[in-house]
Amino acid sequence: MQKKTLSDISIQGKRVLMRVDFNVPLDENKIITDDKRIVESLPSIKKVLENGGRLILMSHLGRPKGKVNIDYSLAPVAARLSELIECPVTMAKDCIGTTVMQQVLALQDGEVILLENLRFHPEEEANDPNFSRELASLGEVYVNDAFGTAHRAHASTEGITHYVQTAVAGYLIERELLYLGKALQEPERPFVAILGGSKISGKIDVLENLFQKVDTVLIGGAMVFTFFKAQGFEVGNSLVEESKIDLALTILEQAKSKGIKLLLPSDVILASEISGNADFYAEKISNIPEKMIGVDIGPDTAEIYRNEILSARTVLWNGPMGVFEIDNFAAGTMAVAHALAEATALGATTIVGGGDSAAAIAKAGLAKEITHISTGGGASLEFLEGKELPGIAALND
Ligand code: 3PG
Repeated sequence: MQKKTLSDISIQGKRVLMRVDFNVPLDENKIITDDKRIVESLPSIKKVLENGGRLILMSHLGRPKGKVNIDYSLAPVAARLSELIECPVTMAKDCIGTTVMQQVLALQDGEVILLENLRFHPEEEANDPNFSRELASLGEVYVNDAFGTAHRAHASTEGITHYVQTAVAGYLIERELLYLGKALQEPERPFVAILGGSKISGKIDVLENLFQKVDTVLIGGAMVFTFFKAQGFEVGNSLVEESKIDLALTILEQAKSKGIKLLLPSDVILASEISGNADFYAEKISNIPEKMIGVDIGPDTAEIYRNEILSARTVLWNGPMGVFEIDNFAAGTMAVAHALAEATALGATTIVGGGDSAAAIAKAGLAKEITHISTGGGASLEFLEGKELPGIAALND
């Protein structure tokens, strides 16, 4: 990695200001339903505390739109973090201001404070220079370990780097770049990418970037119906992006001319409506009746995709194969999740690029059987599109 990391700086006795992504899901009782992002931040947090640093953590949570809203308080995160590191975590009432500064200056070596939600201030997302400067004044060194927010040029990710001397990456960012970066730069072959999701428009940049690197692409999710329509098939009431039909044909031609094996489903699961109560059945794609909706890849396709995944040395997965939130339509996505776990056991490097696919792996209970599951949703997508992530680009080379 071309960026300095936590390992390159001295921490003892220093106020270490660390941007993390603690944007975790909470239920209606404010219970954290998935603490992966907190757990994945622990290596950097422990490094600072064990080396006598005075740790100031800052994050956003949700989208409170620049206003104080107790529903988006980071207090539940402070409680969970305290359990995980087995030491007290002070919860600040704000992220800037005199009181916060006093609390920060009172920190002793090995102590930690979590600032309140950065997005209670509109200046955070506006990347306001004064707000950035004020945040910067809290620490002596700045660490960014918020991979999930690295695609946002916000005050706490990008702006702040203009007001600190030392701006380095934490271990979570280092690990994300190691796996996602290696997959894109020097993958062990065969390299199989599985792309799902509802729209071609949301994945076109990833597809184009991956076309420079992969051997095989397996396509799933509702976007397959735009491809089918482009090929002249009847798709019933399935989701189709009419404006992307020509693009779908171009993608198929590009794959052919580059010698990439691009597979579309041979069968799909059809339902009369997207509901857990709807009847559903598997059907060949040449036989989709009017009014039926494609909601998942079919069992034949799942088996074909599994075999492709098992033959790979590197597997990258982004986007579900169907409406996996509904159990009746989850089999295809679950089959891919299991195939990734099997491939890992066979020695392949398996990488899941965030968001829905990470949720699917969690639903399948297979998180420990995957080489790397990105903590970034939008951030990993932009990385896979080949875009520069401003929060990382701004760190010290
Ligand atoms: C995420 O969950 O993708 C990140 O925390 C970024 O959140 P945002 O999309 O609200 O900027």
